[in-house]
Parts: sequence; structure tokens; C-alpha cells
Amino acid sequence: MVNYKDLGLVNTREMFKRAVTGGYAIPAFNFNNLEQLQAIITASSTLKSPVILQVSKGARAYANPILLRYMAQGAVEFAKSLGCNHPEIALHLDHGDTFELVKDCVDLGFSSVMIDGSSKPYEENIELTRKCVEYAHKYDVTVEAELGVLAGVEDEVASEESHYTKPEEVIDFSQRSGCDSLAISIGTSHGAYKFKPEQCTRDPKTGRLVPPPLAFDVLAEIEKKLPGFPIVLHGSSSVPQKYVDIINKFGGKLPDAVGIPEDQLRRASKSAVCKINIDSDSRLAYTAGVRETLANHPDYFDPRQYGKVARNYMIEMYEEKIKDVLGSENKLANCD
Ligand code: G3H
Ligand code: 13P
Ligand code: ZN
Repeated sequence: MVNYKDLGLVNTREMFKRAVTGGYAIPAFNFNNLEQLQAIITASSTLKSPVILQVSKGARAYANPILLRYMAQGAVEFAKSLGCNHPEIALHLDHGDTFELVKDCVDLGFSSVMIDGSSKPYEENIELTRKCVEYAHKYDVTVEAELGVLAGVEDEVASEESHYTKPEEVIDFSQRSGCDSLAISIGTSHGAYKFKPEQCTRDPKTGRLVPPPLAFDVLAEIEKKLPGFPIVLHGSSSVPQKYVDIINKFGGKLPDAVGIPEDQLRRASKSAVCKINIDSDSRLAYTAGVRETLANHPDYFDPRQYGKVARNYMIEMYEEKIKDVLGSENKLANCD
């Protein structure tokens, strides 16, 4: 049993409290490998932003759970070496689907976990969440739950259709489950194809898809029911077209990839939404860097040559999110 406090990590309680009252959101970035982790820590440390490192079940399968845990521990020291003397880094399980997985992560040193019972019947979701909360809270690990279903297809997260969170359920759910934060469904979805072309209009000038707006009315009702309670938005990549264009230019095929417009994420960040999940944008920036470098340099075969470009694209992307979208720059409790 390892406690996250001994690893220099923090849970999400204090960072969420400050984010809700301060009108900004904490970035929650997924990582699966060294370059993503380097880029996340470089961007968040340079900009003195709290950050949540997310590990999915798929990431554990890809990179090895033990190795990922030690990488997160190393991230704290890396942040300090970059001049961020008081980093606030949470290590978070993304979309945990069983009590056993949650327990394993708590025991390994995670400071925060998500139990995603959103596909289960309401009472089962409450019961599973409550059991995870009971265990996690013994170690002061914070728990995110989910109510409402996001559409989208990822390795470990798959649902054809989204169902908005019902505001009339959130008080009962949060009280009986004891969760610390609640992921809701208001129209975001996982992956790089968040909306079908028939759900969008098309910008006549650029030919690009313009997605429908998020259900801010549902968010407002939820906020009214749970004043000050931390709300989480999954599926919040904006799918920057500059990376999609590079990928398509250099041999990729991502027609009509579309995300959540950044102005909507800015608006959400100012509300009770205090955690915004971004994974696909990292995948896009990474792939753009690799494809472009290899296309321009067919002689390259050292992974560091294209890895460096990919990493720089990711750093640029993470910095833009922190500074220009979520507003978490200089929000460490101690920026010295
Ligand atoms: O919400 C899902 C995350 O993007 C993780 O995706 O399960 O493919 O690692 P993954
Ligand atoms: P995106 O696919 O929009 O990046 O969402 C990531 C996410 O919600 C991780 O839990
Ligand atoms: Zn998610």
C-alpha cells in the first residue's frame, strides 16, 4: 500500500474548491507514454497550473500500471526541476469501471479516482459509487462519479447515444453516493468525431463543420441544484483543425473530425465546471508531429527525431488550453 501523499501528489479537493470560486477549470490530461507526460508537466509547470494526470484502463494495459505510477511520481520531481517548487499534481484513474480497479489504484498511490457507473441503472450506479467512496475516503482519495451518458467510441468507453444528465437526480445521487465531484452529460462526447455531419451546419467560407451548442441550460439547472459542487466535463477536446490539417496533408485520413468549440469550453470553465478532460487533442498533436516529420524526412529512423516534434506540438497545445481556454495559469496555491 502506497499513499499518494508520500509521492508528493495531491487529491483534487482543494484545487477544485479554488477553481469553482475562481471561475476557471483544472486541466485533466490523459497520458500513456513518456512524451505525453513530459509535455503535460512542461506546460503545467511553466505556467504554474495545477494539473490532473489521467490514466485510463487502456493506458494501464498499454504502458503497465506499475510503470505509469512511477512515471507520475517522477513527474513531481520533474516539475520541481523545471522551477515549479510547489506543484499540484493529481494522479487520477479515468473511467474506472469496477470496485477492484478503483481499489488497486488507491493502493498503488493514485490521489483521485473516477468510478464510471453511468451505463448502469441509477441505483446500481449509486451503490457502486458509494462502495468506492467508502474505500477511497479512508485514504483521503477523492472520487469522481458520472451521471448521464456520453456518446462516443474509445477503447474502453463506448456508447452510441448520449443521454443528458437529469438535473432532478443530481442532489439524491451526490448525497447518497458521497462522491466528491460529478461528471455530467450536456452534449460533449469522446473522440475526434464528436458530432455527425447531420448534427452540424457547415461554414460556407471554410467548408468546416460547425457543431451544435452544448446544453448550458442543463448545466445551469444542475448548478442551481448543487451550488458550488465540482462538476466535470468529459469529452472536451476541441479537435484543433491545425493538427487535423497536418495529419491529412501528410497521409492521414480524418475527414470531418470535429470537437467542442473553445469558446464553449471557456464559458463552461467560468461555471461550476472545474475539471475539463482532454485526451484526443493530445493524440492529434502527437500524430501531426510524427506524420509531418517522417513525411519531410524519409531518412529519419530515430524515435527521438519525430518524438521531439510531437512533444513540442503537444506542449504548445497544452499551453494554449491552460492559458487561453481553461484559465488555470498561475493558479497554484503557491506559485513561488
Ligand atoms: O475517455 C476516454 C479517454 O480518452 C481514454 O481513452 O480508453 O482509449 O485510453 P482510452
Ligand atoms: P476527449 O476524447 O474529448 O479528449 O475526452 C477525453 C476524456 O473525456 C477522458 O476521460
Ligand atoms: Zn472521459
